[in-house]
Amino acid sequence: MKKISAVVALIAVAAFSATAFAAVPNGEAIFKEKCAACHPDGGNIINPKETLKGLKNTKIILAKIRAGGNGMTKFDAKTVSDADAKAVAEYIIKTFKK
Ligand code: HEC
Repeated sequence: MKKISAVVALIAVAAFSATAFAAVPNGEAIFKEKCAACHPDGGNIINPKETLKGLKNTKIILAKIRAGGNGMTKFDAKTVSDADAKAVAEYIIKTFKK
């Protein structure tokens, strides 16, 4: 009996971590797919003054993703989910410091 419940517990843990892993959005991958065309290396090919370097505030990045404007694509929640947008914002803050 003990063995069986241990095996069941193991399977449950394995299944849980697999879903948990899949559910964590990869900020870098999303950035490369949706943002890097205009913001290569955190720069800005359309408006070189508006780079992504030195940004510190997640909320400002999230707002820009949703609002777009002045040459930037507007991304709605279907294109970039809230979780993805947050992951991208965190990736930008930790990657493009200067
Ligand atoms: C079609 C080109 C394009 C794409 C794609 C694009 N951007 Fe932008 N982005 C711009 C332009 C142009 C600006 C400057 C807009 C302005 O002056 O208001 C900008 C500005 C920004 C800013 C504000 C920078 C600052 O210094 O305040 C952030 C943050 C940003 N983009 C993030 C993103 C993210 C995240 C993505 C991907 C989900 C993305 N952008 C995709 C063109 C783009």
